[in-house]
This record gives sequence, structure tokens and C-alpha cells, in this order.
Amino acid sequence: MTVESVKPVTAETAEPREAPLAGGAVPVLGHGLQLVRDPLAFMSGLRRHGDVVRLKLGPKTVYAVTAPALTGALALSPDYKIDGPLWESLEGLLGKEGVATANGPRHRRQRRTIQPAFRLDAIPGYGPVMEDEAHALTERWQPGRTIDCTSESFRIAVRIAARCLLRGDFMDERAERLSIDLATVFRGMYRRMVVPLGPLYRLPLPGNREFNRALADLHLLVDEIIAERRASGQKPDDLLTALLEAKDDNGDPIGEQEIHDQVVAIVTPGSETVASTIMWLLQVLAEHPEHAEKVRAEVESVTGGRPVGFADVRALRHTNNVVVEAMRLRPAVWILTRRAVTDTTLGGYRIPAGADIVYSPYAIQRDGRSYDRHLDFDPDRWLPERAKDVPKYAMSPFSVGNRKCPSDHFSMAQLSLITAAVSARYRFEQVSGSNDTTRVGITLRPHRLLLRPVRW
Ligand code: HEM
Repeated sequence: MTVESVKPVTAETAEPREAPLAGGAVPVLGHGLQLVRDPLAFMSGLRRHGDVVRLKLGPKTVYAVTAPALTGALALSPDYKIDGPLWESLEGLLGKEGVATANGPRHRRQRRTIQPAFRLDAIPGYGPVMEDEAHALTERWQPGRTIDCTSESFRIAVRIAARCLLRGDFMDERAERLSIDLATVFRGMYRRMVVPLGPLYRLPLPGNREFNRALADLHLLVDEIIAERRASGQKPDDLLTALLEAKDDNGDPIGEQEIHDQVVAIVTPGSETVASTIMWLLQVLAEHPEHAEKVRAEVESVTGGRPVGFADVRALRHTNNVVVEAMRLRPAVWILTRRAVTDTTLGGYRIPAGADIVYSPYAIQRDGRSYDRHLDFDPDRWLPERAKDVPKYAMSPFSVGNRKCPSDHFSMAQLSLITAAVSARYRFEQVSGSNDTTRVGITLRPHRLLLRPVRW
């Protein structure tokens, strides 16, 4: 099971304290300006103020959790639910009835529906598609010809998710549409979250029109996928069939809106997160040729020169460690929020009912208190003898608890396989015009990564 049982936080007996206020708040805006200007630096600097700190965002108090153990306690506690500005804005745009934003009994029921498709023993069934897509990518790329890593990463992420989970043919045109839509929607959603000026986004400005068009097309695309499956009359054993056949708690079929929102809730996080991670992996291979070479050598020693396959992934220890280390330093999901459903405590600090809590996997995974030479790219830190020293919850890119990403095994398998397949054939160089600085949005990814593949 990927869903861990929800364990109560250890009872905290001492009188709860008020969390300290983070420094640097200014009148009216509080910490808002710092958060908007440089969110990664801001979130990373909070731990020096305490393990739980109060932030002022305008008139609102938000609690930031900065210590790894407390992020685990937060994620595992029944005192918090998915809610807050991030989720409200996701719900408003992507639908209210999908698994990513549901709470309580509906969420539990939805997780039961989708879980079988992501179970560890279901993953080998996706192996042939993952292999096919990874090798097709290396065939498409030509030595010396620049790759636009954003579109290429989206393309393979969408194709693998769609072919494995929705068993759709997913022609390139559709993958392309989906990736363009998602890129526009996520950019607009992030803007609407950090600068919540509702009426401004209803003006007929080009940016708003582009956003609305992309959002409408995303929903249309999902309707097309569902309609096509129904028209085919087929019921393959896949996630889409599970969603279409799902029953509610009374044993009645679930409504059309819920089916639609569920497909959106799976396709959307499934493409953006994996695509962003692939971009960072390609960036890492270009920036650290010594690791690219080590991955190549490892793949060759495991495969003896034949095309790398899904079954080889477990043996590719260094390759897997490269993937984990890239995810540590550049986590696609860099910020997570919860809302307290009751008056409670966290690490001895008082958290009032209704309070929003925020934490940043980016800050946690780069904290010098958890990692030696914390900013170095060092895949060997994941060798068993060293990994045991990493504090619990200091590396949880898929989160823990009942909201843990269902797709951890599915994602890791494809990321390792893609890294192995592309490294077996190419090393990479950045070309002029490439900008690999971090673009902060709903996920983190390079601004515009352009690479030239070079044959070994
Ligand atoms: C939830 C990360 C890939 C589907 C999450 C959460 C994280 C995460 C951190 C938990 C959010 C929270 O605690 O509030 C990632 C990363 C990925 C990845 C880093 C890849 C590198 C995928 C893929 C899919 C997917 C490929 C689907 C095909 C979901 C869904 C949820 C989720 C449906 C909501 C689960 C729930 O609320 O019960 N993901 N994810 N993710 N992820 Fe992923």
C-alpha cells in the first residue's frame, strides 16, 4: 500500500507556546513582498527563526513549518486537511471533485479507486510503454541538434501517463496540446495565487484570454478522452476504466462531474511534476558530465550494450541516486499547504483551528542541518551507509500520510529509465540562449533549457 495509515501526532503535554514571528515583516503587507520577490530564499531562511514560525500575509497569519520531523507530523496528523489558497485556486480552476482536493470520506473512496493502478506490483505492467517512450526519445534526438527540453519533457511525461493509465493512443498532437495548455494554466494559476486580484483576471486582456483558452481546452481534452473510451465500448484493466466504473458510498455510479474532475486531477499533476523533474535531470546531466559518464558506464555494465529495459532499473544504483539527488535539490513540488481543522499543536506550538500551514520541500531538502555540504550535487549521499544519517522526513518529495503521491513508484521507475536511456546514448551541452535558472511556479523548473545532445 502506498497510502500510509494516519497516525496521530504524539501527545504534547506541555502548555503550547505561540510560534515566533518570522523577521522582516513590514506594515500592511507583512512578509508578502518577500514571499513574492524570492519565495525560495524566503522559505529557506525561515528555519533560523524557529521550527514553526508565524508569517503575516496581509492581515492573515500563516504558520510555516521548517523542521523535517514536524513536516512529517503535519502530514500524518488527522488535525489538518487539504485546504488553503493553493487548493482553493486549484479547485476553482481544475474542479472540486477530484482526488487531489477532496477531503474526508470522498477522498478515501477516491484513493481506493485509483490506488490499484499505482501499486508496486502494477508498475511492471507499464514497463513496455516506458521503455518504448524512453527509446523513442533517444531516437528523436539528433546529435548536435538543439533540444527544447521543456516541450520534450512534457511530451514524454504526458505520453507515458496517458498511455499507461488511460490507455489512450495519445497522438503527439494531443500531448502537445495538453502540455501547452498545462504550461499556460499553471503559469496563470500561480499568478492568481500570489497576486489574488480577482477582478483583474476577468478583464479581456491577452494574458487572461490565453489563460481562459488553455483552461477550456484542458477540460475539453479530458471530455474527449472520456467520450472516446465510452464510444469504443472497451473496458481495459486501467485507471480510466476504474474511474468510469467507480461507485459512491451508496453503491451508485459516481457523477459525470466527478469522473471528469478525477481525470483532470490525475493527468494534471502527473504531467507537470514529471516533466519538471525530467528537465532538471537533463540539466544535471549537462552540468555534471562526470555523473553523466558514471550513469553511462553503469548502464553499459548492467546491459552489456543492449537497450536498457524496465527490468534493469533496479540494478542501476547510481542512476537512481542521480534521480533522487536531482529531486532533492530541485523538487518539482516545492511548496505544500494544509489547514488546521481543530485547535491543535505542532512541535509544542499552538495552531488555531482554521489556520493555514505551509512548508517547503525545497527548503527542507536543502537544509544544512540535515545534509552535509547541502548544496552540493552528490548522488553518493544516497548510498545506504550514508543515507541512514539523513533525518526522517528530510527527503519526502512525494510527501507522506494519506495525501502521499500515489504515483511514487510509477514516477521513480520512469525517471530512472529515461535517465538511463538518454545517458546511454548522449551527453549534453547547454547551448546559447539556454537559461537554466529556476523558474518558480506551481512547480519548479528551469526557465528555458536548451541542450545539444552529443554522442559518446
Ligand atoms: C500528490 C509529488 C508525480 C498524481 C502529490 C503530493 C506530492 C506529489 C508531494 C502530495 C501533495 C500534498 O501532500 O499535499 C509528485 C512528484 C512527482 C509526482 C514529485 C514526480 C516527480 C505524479 C504522477 C501522478 C501524480 C505521475 C499521476 C499520474 C498525484 C495525485 C496526488 C498527488 C492524484 C493527490 C493525492 C491525494 O491528495 O490523495 N504528488 N507527484 N503525481 N500526486 Fe504526485
